[in-house]
Amino acid sequence: MKDPQRLQSGANTFLKAGSKCAQWFREAVRYIPAGTSKANLYMLPHPLYVQGGTGCWATDLEGVERLDCINNFTSLIHGHAFPPVVQAVTAQLSRGTNFAFSTPDELLLAKLLVERIPGLEQVRFGNSGTEAVMMAIKAARAFTGRDRIAKIEGAYHGYYDDVQVSFHSEPPDWGLDDAPASLPSSGGIPKHRVQETLVLPWNDQEATERLLTRHKSELAAVIVDPLANRMGFVPPAPGYLKHLREVTRAYGILVIFDEVISLRVGFTGAQGRYGGDPDLTAMGKIIGGGFPVGATGGKAEVMAVFDPGTKGPRILSGGTFSANPITMTAGLAAMQALDHATFARLEDMGTRLRTRLNDVFKRSGQAGQVTGDGSLFRLMMVSRPLRNYRDTVEAGADQRSYRLFMALLDAGIMVNNNGLGCLSTPMGDAELDRINGALERALAALARE
Ligand SMILES: Cc1ncc(COP(=O)(O)O)c(C=O)c1O
Repeated sequence: MKDPQRLQSGANTFLKAGSKCAQWFREAVRYIPAGTSKANLYMLPHPLYVQGGTGCWATDLEGVERLDCINNFTSLIHGHAFPPVVQAVTAQLSRGTNFAFSTPDELLLAKLLVERIPGLEQVRFGNSGTEAVMMAIKAARAFTGRDRIAKIEGAYHGYYDDVQVSFHSEPPDWGLDDAPASLPSSGGIPKHRVQETLVLPWNDQEATERLLTRHKSELAAVIVDPLANRMGFVPPAPGYLKHLREVTRAYGILVIFDEVISLRVGFTGAQGRYGGDPDLTAMGKIIGGGFPVGATGGKAEVMAVFDPGTKGPRILSGGTFSANPITMTAGLAAMQALDHATFARLEDMGTRLRTRLNDVFKRSGQAGQVTGDGSLFRLMMVSRPLRNYRDTVEAGADQRSYRLFMALLDAGIMVNNNGLGCLSTPMGDAELDRINGALERALAALARE
């Protein structure tokens, strides 16, 4: 990296026709559809390519450094090149990257998670959040002997067939408010799989109970993200999770929490904050210290389905790279550095940031608000109070969100193109000021357009 420039405006030099990113894209698009392997990095006229990063800063191919408030989709809670992770991984690299046998760090990371997260008695590792969700669903099916699952409308759980359902439904197809339709949210999913997934409206106790009662003997599990990103981090309404737990317990349906993102909100995850007593929990992102990771944990009675020696229903789960020593040592170093005080500091920064950014929105007179919890925030281009997914859907909101994303990039701040952002431990008050200033400039730019 050579003399990166920390621009506060006019940072989008990568959009110029002769930029390095444009050149790179012309070559990449010949070998990679859309020039990038992740659908959510798609942007016009081409993706932003990055050469590296340290702490909370990332530098693009043009040499422009931006404050990284997306941290590889919230996974890098310590930012880039966090020294304890670099040291742990470097040491492990010279001891071997993977074996066909277990290594001690797998036990240490499992123990750390079980000791912190209330719903965990045992854990199994995989390589992504998608895999963690898939393993949880399979475990619930094996344990209950039932096939169907239910999910909440507007919640994203990765790209396993059963859950790529109704996470960006739109009118007029989305069905009734209290009986949302099961719609495919991606191509390539067999129609019968989509219909197998029952869709529930978030925070509507009555409708949730009615739908679960109607399908009680078919359902293996309800999967819930206690703080769903795509829904704008709308928290559970008081009593919703408790009621869900009571109803599912009465019907022998398991509750799976998807904490792939929400584990970030505190030492005990979102379940420590909001309750809900899940049988199974899917995890990912921060627990891998920046390396590919997924983990499924839960009550020992249910987790027994992963034990090849157990009697009764079992599921076969393997994975050449599951629990690989690099991820395990990186995850351990990252998680050990997240003590109570560190989470409290992140939460305090997050609370102050959300208050300040909401003020910026108000002063700008434009539709929008900032939601979130702990170190997570979401810039939502709608003004009405949010109670469920449908409240977040408004004509033109997605386009405004994308324009804000581009304007923030130009103001030197990286968030996701849907407004998702997060803080990292290398950040402090100076970075909060910078985010605040960037939002002011970005909204002013949008007003001028
Ligand atoms: C809540 C949630 N669940 C599951 C996933 C899938 O995780 P991964 O991208 O690691 O497969 C994501 C990814 O963003 C997520 O946000």
